[in-house]
Amino acid sequence: CGIVGVLGRHEVSPGILEALRRLEYRGYDSAGIATVNNGVLDRRRAVGKLVNLSDVLVHTPLPGKSGIGHTRWATHGAATEDNAHPHLAGRVAVVHNGIIENFRALRAELAAEGIAHQTQTDTETVALLTALHLDRGMTPVAAARATLARLEGAFALAFLFAGEDDLMIAARRGSPLAIGHGVGEMYLGSDALALAPLTDQITYLEEGDHAILTRAGVTVFDAGGAAVQRGVATIRLDAAAADKSGHRHFMAKEMAQQPAILRAALAAYTDATGTALALPEGAGFDGVDRVTLVACGTGFYACQVAKYWFEQIAGLPADIDIASEFRYRAPVLSPHSMAVFVSQSGETADTLAALRHVQGKVARTLGVVNVPTSSIARETDVALPILAGPEISVASTKGFTAQLQVLMLLALQAGVDRGRLTPAALADHLSALRALPGLINQALDREGQMRDIARHLAEARDILFLGRGTMYPLALEGALKLKELSYIHAEGYAAGELKHGPIALIDQHVPVVVLAPHDALFDKTLSNMQEVMARQGQVFLIADARTLAAAGEVTHSLTMPEVPPLLAPILYAIPAQMLAYHTALFRGTDVDQPRNLAKSVTVE
Ligand code: G6P
Repeated sequence: CGIVGVLGRHEVSPGILEALRRLEYRGYDSAGIATVNNGVLDRRRAVGKLVNLSDVLVHTPLPGKSGIGHTRWATHGAATEDNAHPHLAGRVAVVHNGIIENFRALRAELAAEGIAHQTQTDTETVALLTALHLDRGMTPVAAARATLARLEGAFALAFLFAGEDDLMIAARRGSPLAIGHGVGEMYLGSDALALAPLTDQITYLEEGDHAILTRAGVTVFDAGGAAVQRGVATIRLDAAAADKSGHRHFMAKEMAQQPAILRAALAAYTDATGTALALPEGAGFDGVDRVTLVACGTGFYACQVAKYWFEQIAGLPADIDIASEFRYRAPVLSPHSMAVFVSQSGETADTLAALRHVQGKVARTLGVVNVPTSSIARETDVALPILAGPEISVASTKGFTAQLQVLMLLALQAGVDRGRLTPAALADHLSALRALPGLINQALDREGQMRDIARHLAEARDILFLGRGTMYPLALEGALKLKELSYIHAEGYAAGELKHGPIALIDQHVPVVVLAPHDALFDKTLSNMQEVMARQGQVFLIADARTLAAAGEVTHSLTMPEVPPLLAPILYAIPAQMLAYHTALFRGTDVDQPRNLAKSVTVE
């Protein structure tokens, strides 16, 4: 979900709507705007896509030169107009990301004062509490502060007040907020991308900060309430970042960008000769006896691949964890371990909480992130940006392959530091990585064949993805992408585990996608494929020519370029993504913004 605020010189609703559009990629299910016009606070809200809000605004315009807007991803309370933000109470309007954890207690307190809620949301509680403070004679600034002092949880908030045409208050605790500086105007946004058409002059609020904005500028206060200086950065956002550059969807654009992104990131993390690593200082493994990798969603599958690499290349024990499980199971941490947090957005609440959980208990924390200004990038000892550029499609594609490459480089670094890799062996690995973008281009060129497979998948009710070794997490990723985008039930399984359960599902209606590059395990995977075929399952074999030659007759196959087995997971991400993309197109679902999903999940 996203927050936008504008103190402008002209009518603000159109600009707020446009900024919300730039936050659409984060996923949402309702939206709204509130403005102050000659002192009067008013709002418009609508369920569903922004076009619905835009229709409402056409029929009932919302004048005013100061306003806040919001796209909501439902947590407390269904996606209805009543629950949509902004929430209004008395003389205040509030928009909010994240969760107010103590809202039930606050609700009860308000009820005891005879103040009733109209909705089930935690945000309304914030508005009502602030309104109560205003009623008791506090100034808007004092009322907002008194409210903030009572809130627990991780959130970002923006307040707008009746009678105050030149005031907006913002607070950041756990959820990011950026302040934009204009000429006689000031802005607020969940990220700099939202504000890109308005300004490139950005101040990022730090954890615990609150800010008082007027058209003349901003004053920031830290968690202790002291006025602080927070720098203004000039953000160079690729002008094309939020545009599809001729592609039908952001996802298509982002898949196509992968070869160029991987090539540039590799160059950034190797020396001028291309034969040695040049990772940021602190990304070394001297004295490190263990690596713990933590992430959510697609990032977790990248970690699962990386586990094989750390073990195989560097002989370094690697633990992997889903962030939402990690800190609740008393993980045993070695003080000599390196903890790696993988997150495209760098803001995922569970991953951030996991990072905070290990602070001070491990040798070093490292963030593999895409957004360099994100919370995880700031709070880890070492940030290792994946350099993929803004990822707009909710389903991660270039983020995944760029994460994988950086994790591979880390595993190589561990191999060097632990004396497992000679300089010559390292140079060979790096040269194989340099060849990878070319292979990815070849795979992308097979889009037509992947589309043909997707045509079949689109008819199915259940789909299985199978793989062994590093193809196992790729099978999981293929299934995740497919269910996210097409809403068809799909499961990824370790090929050898098929016979222990999922084989019961196999009949002629269940497509089984088998990922089998010619590695040390391919023949075992082919045996599992035979088990499927023996039960009339429809096999779709995705493999290189050597595996296909060994496979004998299969009904459907996709010939992939040959690739060194260690790098196969990066290459095989392409069919995993592409099959999901085309299946979704056949099903007519919303590729870039699948239902119920959010790009950056800042709630637990
Ligand atoms: C959401 C997104 C996924 C992503 C996951 C983790 O669920 O829809 O695509 O993999 O969050 O996000 P992160 O930003 O931490 O990588």
